[in-house]
Amino acid sequence: MTGARSASGAPASEPSSPASPPDGPILWDLLPDTSAVTGDGHLSVGGVDLLQLAEEVGTPVFVYDEDHMRDRCREAVAGFGPGVAYATKAFLCKAMAALALEEKMALDVSTGGEMAVALAGGASGEQLVCHGNNKSSEELAAALRAGVGRIVVDSFDEIIRLRALSAAGVTSGSSGGRKRLLVRVTPGIEAHTHEYVKTGQEDTKFGFSLASGAAAEAAAALRGLADFELAGVHAHIGSQIFEVSAFAEEIAALVPFVVENRFSECCIGGGLGVAYVEGEVAPSITEWAHAVHAAARTAGLSSRVRLTAEPGRAIVASAAVTLYRVGTIKQLPGLRCYVAVDGGMSDNPRPVLYGSGYEAFLPRSPRASRPLAARLVGKHCESGDVIVDDARLPSDLVVGDVLATPVTGAYGFAMSSNYNRVLRPPVVFVSGGRYRVVVRRETVADLLACEA
Ligand code: LLP
Repeated sequence: MTGARSASGAPASEPSSPASPPDGPILWDLLPDTSAVTGDGHLSVGGVDLLQLAEEVGTPVFVYDEDHMRDRCREAVAGFGPGVAYATKAFLCKAMAALALEEKMALDVSTGGEMAVALAGGASGEQLVCHGNNKSSEELAAALRAGVGRIVVDSFDEIIRLRALSAAGVTSGSSGGRKRLLVRVTPGIEAHTHEYVKTGQEDTKFGFSLASGAAAEAAAALRGLADFELAGVHAHIGSQIFEVSAFAEEIAALVPFVVENRFSECCIGGGLGVAYVEGEVAPSITEWAHAVHAAARTAGLSSRVRLTAEPGRAIVASAAVTLYRVGTIKQLPGLRCYVAVDGGMSDNPRPVLYGSGYEAFLPRSPRASRPLAARLVGKHCESGDVIVDDARLPSDLVVGDVLATPVTGAYGFAMSSNYNRVLRPPVVFVSGGRYRVVVRRETVADLLACEA
């Protein structure tokens, strides 16, 4: 199953030129770190031949490079210190929680469901950072009972709920001492990213405005809560951000508030972008961390303040590829070629939701040029079910081919659905020439499990 050199004998992990022509092979940099070409010329990840994997596990399937994710977790810990949180919303299952914890990350959870999976994956309450703009009393109580490390408080209603839970004795029954709180603020930063994933601007459902004084008011109210300790501030300006200068602006906005309140913690959230298609260039986690620390020094943040972050996408996005099987090829003369695969908007809603771009290639010939222009679509009953609007594929593509889309590790499986009652794909981790199914494929019995 392993093959570290290409058929031509060239080192298999050697990247192709970043300036490869539009018809050129898939850009190697978009593939998981351990990608290599087998003796048969197929793509392997983690030493596992993807065609063989597709045969054994079926398609569609999310394939995650475990070593790649561990490497990104280590980069985050090196850059921000142990306890930097992995944002589980990007991709969560028990195995992922366990992996991030093994690499010394904490886990950011934003709902009771994410908290339950993180705990089932082996997290202690102390390792969790609890988010959400509309946490219910039940979710807050569950977090307190689990002894969560930090609750990031998002609204005045939540402060009322915390006070009530404290009065009802929920905090005294929970483990640990006083519960640490962070106040979520909106720093008034407009990050250059998609409207739906911006969060730092004033007009938002998240957090308390620094500019309006709501954040100061919330901090005062939180200080008055028995059983809790207001430890710091939290902000998140958006997702898929390429410019580290946006984070410097965020820090400059946060530091006066940290100083005024003598906070011991400052969390800048997540949001570091990744390259999805040729031509995109994203900073590494290390570059991001350096820029953040430099900005904190410039803004006068004391080194005694714990400066931390919550990357999600940057840990997992480019670790995964989705494997599909081609079922239909339709040439519409004078119009275009449609290539339909056995998944679609149910396993990757990002193109439909955000107009996100992806690339496609054939794992049977990852070095092949891709002169065939086609629209890659799924099997759902609507025209918007597009995975790659203007895909480039090898001209010898045939029905039955296994086709891959790279950089599908973040917000794919996490946002997958059963639309058209399609079964969610399995998740497979690969490493060291072996694979393990960490989430099995759904079955018709699963589809019917909740029905009366
Ligand atoms: N922390 C907080 C408070 C967040 O709201 C988020 C993401 C993160 C951390 C992690 O951000 P990341 O490092 O992954 O950018 N579904 C959208 C992304 C939504 C992000 C929501 N919050 C997408 O597919 O692009």
